Amino acid sequence: MKLFDVYPLMDLNIVRADGAYVYDEAGHAFLDLYGGHAVISIGHGHPHWKQRIKVQMDKISFYSNAVINELQTELAEKLAKLSGKEDYQLFLCNSGAEANENALKLASFHTGRKQIVAFKKAFHGRTSLAVAATDSPKYRAPVNETGNVVFLPFNDTTALKEYFKSNGQEVAAVIIEGIQGVGGIHVASDEFLHTIRQLCDAHQAVLIADEVQCGFGRSGKFFSTDHAALNADIYTMAKGMGNGFPVAGILIAPHFKAQYGMLGTTFGGNHLACAAALAVLETMEQEDLVQNAAAIGDYLLHALQQVAGIENVRGKGLMIGFDVPESSKGLKQRLFQKYRILTGEAGPNVIRLLPGLSIDHTIADTFLQALQAAIDDVKN
Ligand SMILES: Cc1ncc(COP(=O)(O)O)c(C=O)c1O
Repeated sequence: MKLFDVYPLMDLNIVRADGAYVYDEAGHAFLDLYGGHAVISIGHGHPHWKQRIKVQMDKISFYSNAVINELQTELAEKLAKLSGKEDYQLFLCNSGAEANENALKLASFHTGRKQIVAFKKAFHGRTSLAVAATDSPKYRAPVNETGNVVFLPFNDTTALKEYFKSNGQEVAAVIIEGIQGVGGIHVASDEFLHTIRQLCDAHQAVLIADEVQCGFGRSGKFFSTDHAALNADIYTMAKGMGNGFPVAGILIAPHFKAQYGMLGTTFGGNHLACAAALAVLETMEQEDLVQNAAAIGDYLLHALQQVAGIENVRGKGLMIGFDVPESSKGLKQRLFQKYRILTGEAGPNVIRLLPGLSIDHTIADTFLQALQAAIDDVKN
């Protein structure tokens, strides 16, 4: 049987990983500044994470959500502590798209409305509602076009106010990435986020922060929207939450009332997933990784801003992007092939850095040196 060929593959067969490095079958080490697409949070194969999953596997790996699972309660308590959203409620699922799907559905249940406001260049996932709120027609099948989603310009408070003036009473939810990832690393301004908050309050609409990529410590705060010092009504989480183990969830403000059957999933919140997510949170706390992401991120951002040959360095914490001008074309490929460094991309000319939150100054410097050398190579 052939694989359904939907992924353009890099010529790399990873067979092992440890910390900030992955290894191919020939034993070559690659510095992983892509984090498997922002998924690796505490580092590849962290010993505590491996141990907690192994111990759990020896007890029980899965049972359905029809019975008590105390690991879910333990996870909710730990999440409350580390996120600071003490009075929120937790619903667990399996992926980022599913988290957004549930958040949007819940907003519609709660308000009795259908209209969703999303933003240009947004990416919220591939399932029906999540992809309807994703600003990329090529990902949407005809059945996903419901007419319920409007895309407004990102960081444009005037356009947002205008829209709410005439349509505010119909809006169920505004969904926003605090830092757009797939769209190319664009940071929502504090002013924009506060305007969304005020308009949602004034019109009883739900503010959903899609923290699937930018959350879980990546931005140097637990949620990227925490930088603006406001609360969303629903936070969606996935990628870094399990450090590679599939687990996702939504944090739901206290004013949402749950009803049996409103949301549900077979695998969401299973024993192994909870063990993985708990290990991630315990390690983040133990190793002060949110603070580390802030510090190393700051160091990298400032250093990158001095590098000639790249442009528009931007981001927060360890979610960093920059443009590659025509004169440095081929930079990503060069970093991979000659310097064995993995980076992410967005569109043809943006490089994204999404490394594990535990990288240190030595790794940052290794990258900075290789980057300069690769820029010199591609220019000549
Ligand atoms: C901001 C954001 N939301 C949602 C998703 C979808 O997550 P998943 O691929 O786990 O469904 C992604 C994935 O890249 C994302 O970056």
